[in-house]
Amino acid sequence: MRCKGLFCLLMVAVCLLSLVKGMEGLNEEKKVVIIYASRYGSTAQSAKWIAEGMEGIPTVMSAKEVGDLTRYDFVILGSGIYGGQLHEDMLALLAEKKGEIKDKLVALFVVCGSPASNAQPYLDMFAAKCEVTAPPLMISSGGWLKKELLSPEDYQILENHYKSINQPFENWDLTDKSKCLQFGKDILEAIS
Ligand SMILES: Cc1cc2nc3c(=O)[nH]c(=O)nc-3n(C[C@H](O)[C@H](O)[C@H](O)COP(=O)(O)O)c2cc1C
Repeated sequence: MRCKGLFCLLMVAVCLLSLVKGMEGLNEEKKVVIIYASRYGSTAQSAKWIAEGMEGIPTVMSAKEVGDLTRYDFVILGSGIYGGQLHEDMLALLAEKKGEIKDKLVALFVVCGSPASNAQPYLDMFAAKCEVTAPPLMISSGGWLKKELLSPEDYQILENHYKSINQPFENWDLTDKSKCLQFGKDILEAIS
């Protein structure tokens, strides 16, 4: 009788151990990629902060670098906003690989000059272009304007824009590391 009790205890311990091992295996196997498209670096920087918030688990790459996505279980996409549109590399990526991405998409972010209260249309447009099956987590985050980095075309566009709204054409930096870190934590929690 005592022997039977010990045997049962042993079996329970073995089951618990394999359950824990199984869960560890699941976490190890999860592959996450953050794909960003950035002209002047602030979206790339935000992608790195989001990855940091996710404890460094995701691979971070630009939309131009994307190759085989079959190895990833979860995809996070981020784009800068220019003239109300996504970055051309993000549009090209979606045109080519939307089918592959949309079922794995867990989060989207845009980086722009508009405050979060005005940036929802950019996120809605991004989600619509992805034809998402489940609503992803989404944030807009502030970017930066560094005049010294701008292409001549973009310089001209922004100079005209600021003139038209009677505002000074100056550098600004609205990046928010803590918001990106928190977004990373939220994504990690959602996929764990
Ligand atoms: C040509 C140009 C057009 C822009 N148009 C918009 C816009 O329509 N709405 C907005 O909120 N921000 C706009 N911005 C601000 C950018 O979204 C912001 O600078 C962002 O940080 C750029 O991301 P990046 O550094 O990854 O390129 C524009 C910036 C440039 C250079």
